[in-house]
Amino acid sequence: MNSTQPETLDGFAINTSALTRRYGKLTAADCIELRIPYGEIFGLLGANGAGKSTLIKMLTTLLSPTSGTAEVGGYDIIRSPGEVRRRIGYVSQLVSADGALNGYENLRLSAKLYGLPAAERENRIANALEFMGLADSSRRLVRTYSGGMIRRLELAQAMLHRPSILFLDEPTIGLDPVARRLVWDRLLNLRRDLGMTVLITTHDMEEAEMLSDQLAIMHAGRISVIGKPDELRAGLSAEQGTEATMDDVFVHYAGGLIHEGGTFSGVAQTRRTAQRLG
Ligand SMILES: Nc1ncnc2c1ncn2[C@@H]1O[C@H](COP(=O)(O)OP(=O)(O)OP(=O)(O)O)[C@@H](O)[C@H]1O
Ligand SMILES: [Mg+2]
Repeated sequence: MNSTQPETLDGFAINTSALTRRYGKLTAADCIELRIPYGEIFGLLGANGAGKSTLIKMLTTLLSPTSGTAEVGGYDIIRSPGEVRRRIGYVSQLVSADGALNGYENLRLSAKLYGLPAAERENRIANALEFMGLADSSRRLVRTYSGGMIRRLELAQAMLHRPSILFLDEPTIGLDPVARRLVWDRLLNLRRDLGMTVLITTHDMEEAEMLSDQLAIMHAGRISVIGKPDELRAGLSAEQGTEATMDDVFVHYAGGLIHEGGTFSGVAQTRRTAQRLG
């Protein structure tokens, strides 16, 4: 079977049931219910600390849920983590490439890790390097790469085995506008040609709108809203009586967190109090 083909086309690529993760008293992901069809690019938005990375780490089997569960690629993340891992690719928010190896060696490691047949390895690696604009730097140690080059290498690593479901945690952070567009094109092509499902987090509203078939906005561990980008904008425009941008939609549903521990309404309250006192 071609590993890029989902096993249950009529099911969901990602299907969570009351998926929850606590860190001590903090509930970082709170009873998440998410159903993402195969072949969609799904954007996950939310302010810093909303719970996006926590959710992704559970879906990629790197972090155990406190309660609830999820199916990814038709397999339960708790009962069949190995089956889940075989079907996914993951770019973490933090740098994961090995600085002591060169670009080519990092890709060879991924190729082995993902069990790519030896006969296909060199070809796939060469294509990936070429596509991500790293062919000329492939023999340089990764610790001499720029931040954007490292990000491109990590994307190449996660896509090398053409997984059916790709998890990207802020994949375009630090990329220049040309590289960013390259990544967008690549993702759109992967969805079109291979039917790949992509769950992507980003703080870039242009990117979210441009890529996402649907998106969800998280706030304090919960999902505040799910919908198509244009429907979310239209809904808010109707509600507030003026044309809403994606930024407006984000501020409206993300709780407007502008710094850790503070909300727009909280800050406004503090300012009003300060004005009264001052
Ligand atoms: N290992 C941990 N131990 C304790 N608290 C944690 C841990 N990891 C995350 N948290 C907390 O859980 C909450 C959600 O964090 P998470 O990293 O999922 O947010 P995020 O939406 O990915 O944020 P960002 O946009 O900044 O990446 C935050 O309050 C964070 O401080
Ligand atoms: Mg995060």
